[in-house]
Amino acid sequence: MQILESQRQELMAAALAARASAYAPYSQFAVGAAVLDASGRIFQGCNVENVSFGLTICAERVAATSAIAAGSRDLAACAVCTPGGGTPCGACRQFLAEFNSQMKILLVDADQPGVWRECDLAKLLPDQFRL
Ligand code: THU
Repeated sequence: MQILESQRQELMAAALAARASAYAPYSQFAVGAAVLDASGRIFQGCNVENVSFGLTICAERVAATSAIAAGSRDLAACAVCTPGGGTPCGACRQFLAEFNSQMKILLVDADQPGVWRECDLAKLLPDQFRL
């Protein structure tokens, strides 16, 4: 799917805004994410930590599950906003690949929201697990 520049900007702004809802009392590392579906809808997510650390959910998976719960499965892109603008963790890469192995990933630096880069999920997760 062709992603318009205006959609890119809207998606990254949604990820930045979602970060404000992050529940990260243990790491203090707030993450916001937003996914764009094929019909242009955007779904947001933030990380949700838990005192039992392993139960923590990443922002990308919250955004993706929000889309799925709304009946949207054709995900074209995911924007992630973190301090430093880093890439999604391995678990999130595999989780996103379930819905589109060719997804575009937009990385936004929370401290400099104008600074971002785009990459391909297929490059971040080569040789994806398949049944
Ligand atoms: N986190 C995300 O939300 N997404 C990622 O891709 C990596 C890590 C969260 C989980 C945890 O709440 C915090 O960042 C520090 O690991």
